[in-house]
Amino acid sequence: MNASLPSASQSMNVTKVKPNIGAIVTGVDLSRPIDEATKKALHAAVVENVVLVIRDQAHLTSAQVQAAGEIFGELMEDQNRRYLVDGHPLISVLDNFHKDSEGKPAKVGKNATWHTDHTNQEFPPKFTMLYAVAVPDKGGATSVCNTRAAYESLPENFKQKINPMKTENTLLSSARFKIANPDVLKAQLSSTKLPTIQPLVRTHPETGTKAVWFHKGKTEKIIGMTPEETQDFLQEITDTITQPEFCYAHEYQKGDLLIVDNRASLHKAGFDYDHSQQRRLYRMLVRGDRPY
Ligand SMILES: [Fe+2]
Repeated sequence: MNASLPSASQSMNVTKVKPNIGAIVTGVDLSRPIDEATKKALHAAVVENVVLVIRDQAHLTSAQVQAAGEIFGELMEDQNRRYLVDGHPLISVLDNFHKDSEGKPAKVGKNATWHTDHTNQEFPPKFTMLYAVAVPDKGGATSVCNTRAAYESLPENFKQKINPMKTENTLLSSARFKIANPDVLKAQLSSTKLPTIQPLVRTHPETGTKAVWFHKGKTEKIIGMTPEETQDFLQEITDTITQPEFCYAHEYQKGDLLIVDNRASLHKAGFDYDHSQQRRLYRMLVRGDRPY
C-alpha cells in the first residue's frame, strides 16, 4: 500500500512492509529542512507501523544524523556510554569492529534476545533509532515485534492474567548475571538504586492501546514470582507473541535510519552475518514518559 503524504518541501512516500508491522519511507532528504507537516506524518507513521525505515540517508554528517533524531523528540543519554560519536554524546555506536585498549576485539553487548530498551529507568525511551553507517552483505537485521497486535491476539483469560502484573527492573537481572559483561556487572553490583517497577502490559499514551512490554535481561522478577520463575514465564510469553505475522526483520542498507516505537514493541539484534565484515550502527534514544 502506498500513501503519498503532503509536504511543502519534500515528496515523501510511505510503503507498508506487512499488514501488522513495518513501513519504508522514501523521497525524503534529512539533510534538508523538514517542515512541520512532514514531521507530523513521520511521527504518525512510526506510531501506526511500530517500525519505520527512512531510506537513502548515507550522505548525512553526524550533526545531521542528530538533527534527524531530534525530529522525533528530545534525545536522551544512552546508559551504555562506552562508545560515542566524537562531539555528539547523544549518539552511541554499535560496531563489531570495536577494539579494546590492547587492540583486541572488544567485548560488546549482543542483545540477541527480544527486549525493549532501558526498562530500569523511570522514563525509558519512547523511540530507539538506529542509523546504518556500515552494513554486512547479508544478515545483521534488527527484528521488531508489534506487541500491541500480539497482545490483542492473546486469549482473553491470558490477557486478564498478565494485565495487572508488574516487573522489577535493574541494570541486569541476577538470573542472568553469569552472562554479564564485566563493566555492566561492576556497575550493577555497586548500585544502591532500588529496582524500577514497570507494568508488564503497557498502555500507549497516544493511542490508548495495550502492548506486552519487558526486557527479560533487566527484569529481576515479576512481583510474586522468583527470578527463575520470572525468566521462564517471560520466555514463555516471548515464544507466544513473537509470531512471524507480528514481526519484521530489517536487513539494513547503508544510510537507513530505523525508528522503533518502543511503547508497542520488542526488538532484537541479529548476529547471523559474516563478522569479518563491519556492522556499524549509530543509536539515538528519544526521551519517553513514565510507563503505565
Ligand atoms: Fe535494544
